[in-house]
Amino acid sequence: MSRGLKGELQVPGDKSISHRALILGAMAEGHTFIDGISEGEDVRSTWRCLQSLRVRITAEAGRVTVKGSGWRGLITPKRVLDAGNSGTTMRLMMGVLAGSDLYAKLDGDESLRRRPMARVAEPLRRMGADIDLKGGKTAPVRIRGAALKGIDFASPVASAQVKSAVLLAGLLATGETSVSEPVLSRDHTERLLPMFGAKCRRDGLKFTVQGALNLAGARLFVPGDISSAAFWLIAATLAPGSELKLLNVGVNPTRTGVLDALKRMGGRVEVLPRDLPGEPSADLLVRSAKLAATDISAGEVPGLIDEVPILALAASQAEGVSRFKGLSELRHKESDRLAAIAALLKALGGSAKVEGDDLIVKGPSKLKGAKVSAGGDHRLAMTALIAGLVSEGAVKVPDADCVEISYPSFLDDLKRLGGS
Ligand code: S3P
Repeated sequence: MSRGLKGELQVPGDKSISHRALILGAMAEGHTFIDGISEGEDVRSTWRCLQSLRVRITAEAGRVTVKGSGWRGLITPKRVLDAGNSGTTMRLMMGVLAGSDLYAKLDGDESLRRRPMARVAEPLRRMGADIDLKGGKTAPVRIRGAALKGIDFASPVASAQVKSAVLLAGLLATGETSVSEPVLSRDHTERLLPMFGAKCRRDGLKFTVQGALNLAGARLFVPGDISSAAFWLIAATLAPGSELKLLNVGVNPTRTGVLDALKRMGGRVEVLPRDLPGEPSADLLVRSAKLAATDISAGEVPGLIDEVPILALAASQAEGVSRFKGLSELRHKESDRLAAIAALLKALGGSAKVEGDDLIVKGPSKLKGAKVSAGGDHRLAMTALIAGLVSEGAVKVPDADCVEISYPSFLDDLKRLGGS
């Protein structure tokens, strides 16, 4: 049991913004300078794919420079583009490659090869893309660049990856491309586009971009990743005697569902806005609190999609029954996260079950130590390790190395803050 988490912590740069900064930098002409980029393996995957397409990317003293020569400068890669474990790399790159003058094959690890790619290939094909998926559904993905035309696409899912793939392809298409979605998903692509000189506009849930315009390099600042900060928000809430300040965390309203949910549960987080360039950011000051159960509605899910595992751990320590509704999208993440979260909580002595697409967690449970596999899923590994701060015995995660995907310094931070 932890004695409480104290002090200050800077979490890694936002993964979603980092991917997009590299990709748009590669599509633009001239230099793009990026401060605070994520150093996780997922962003490395995007970085390596772009290098294989002859984009020059260098890093010096924490600043990354992308030398773009415009989307016409991308060339047929000599080898297969490896997206590793990263759904964002594969899906966003599909949009870029579909409209470039080249041939490319995109592949990924075992987990990525199981994830659905038709949701991106279908709208891209409507734009004129030539894309071949394994069994019509998954990676490896083969793309022969083609002349694209703009479309008006109503996405059936609130997925920022699908939306972004179509908008990136829209940059290379003739005419305008619009994407609307049932609920607003993270809007980092839309926020970055005008910074590169793209012509675009928002109308409610619909976003439109003008194609066939040249983009120009930009100067970007990436705040800390709220999805990484979430682990410490919950850890400090659950460990008695905590007072922890998380520095410069991105608080884009499409990402702050975890703060709303935690507040409803009785969490004590002060949001101290920072006046820094780039997306909205704040220091988050969190103190321990006693939690009560809450319901998460299906409409809230896109705003906290990656935080469901750690929020489920919070629910296991809260008084009452929490219901997370409409989690079907979680089945398509780095693992079937819906089944995996319930299994993890149960293995630790918690009470959790899946009913249809809902996750039901009853608390408070006394958690016990256990040896649990994360199945290679970084967010499950971090959830299990945070559970170890409040469990009665040690929680061991043999495949904890997978935290490298989004948060390479997680184990060091855990050692430093763990307090036991
Ligand atoms: C992401 C979008 C979300 C999220 C993922 C990152 C992005 O996925 O779960 O970790 O950067 O666009 P979906 O778009 O599939 O919901």
